[in-house]
Amino acid sequence: MSAAAILLDGKTVAGKVRGEVAARAAELTGRLGRQPGLAVVQVGEDPASSIYVRNKRKAAAEAGIASFAYDLPAVTIDSDLFALVERLNRDERVDGILVQFPLPKRLDATRVMDAIDPSKDVDGFHAVNTGLLAQKRPALRACTPHGVIRLAAEYGIALRGLRATVVGASNIVGRPMALELLLAGATVTVCHTGTRDVEAEVARAELVVAAVGKPHFIPGDWIRPGAAVFDVGINRDANGRMVGDVEYDRAVVRAGWITPVPGGLGPMTIAMLLSNTVEAASRRLEARRG
Ligand code: GUN
Repeated sequence: MSAAAILLDGKTVAGKVRGEVAARAAELTGRLGRQPGLAVVQVGEDPASSIYVRNKRKAAAEAGIASFAYDLPAVTIDSDLFALVERLNRDERVDGILVQFPLPKRLDATRVMDAIDPSKDVDGFHAVNTGLLAQKRPALRACTPHGVIRLAAEYGIALRGLRATVVGASNIVGRPMALELLLAGATVTVCHTGTRDVEAEVARAELVVAAVGKPHFIPGDWIRPGAAVFDVGINRDANGRMVGDVEYDRAVVRAGWITPVPGGLGPMTIAMLLSNTVEAASRRLEARRG
């Protein structure tokens, strides 16, 4: 007999986080004399990015965060993008800066991450914020990994001592995810292109985070019975259907908990971005007050 997993309902938890953010934003608006501000920059017109960016701007406005939109043409050159980032670093109305990735290939994403003031780095991608997380003193934390931690907490999944496997080692999800799980006291394995036996690493994990970006990269029957499965993937399959990195239909009958795609970490990522924006506004206010 197989029992289906508990669904980790990112949409509902994200709604709760956004409610908390709206209350903090209202309180900060009183103290700052203006709304907390989030600048979202898009370069070019990648269709998936356009959807994400629109959702981020809309969610910010709904939470009482002032949204500043910058849409630059795909032909934008480095120096123009850096000039904008510098301007936003100095703009007192702006508490958070997000430059949507992927950038057109000519542009250097690492240099863009480096250029953002770490105190406004609401993506948590800057080396300073990643380094602080690595040293167990998190400040602004990468949104998707932080969303995994919050979602686990909401469902009472205790992370301390848990055997966790992260599949994918990117700077924006896999690596900060491993650091978040380590911070939470899990025993962490990270799989990457050099990993000899990904199946074995997944099969012994009590918690799996899939952040590969390939549809159904992880077959459902790799999942250890009862495991918690967090699927970060947002992919289109051959029929144009949105699917995750995990073969959901076969994983759901083995897992103890699982995130749906869509409706799992997508909404959580946006909610944690808003949370970072009020966090950045609050920290900047405290820093000014000394
Ligand atoms: N592209 C896909 N996810 C993200 C994200 O969380 N932040 C940014 N800036 N770009 C992304």
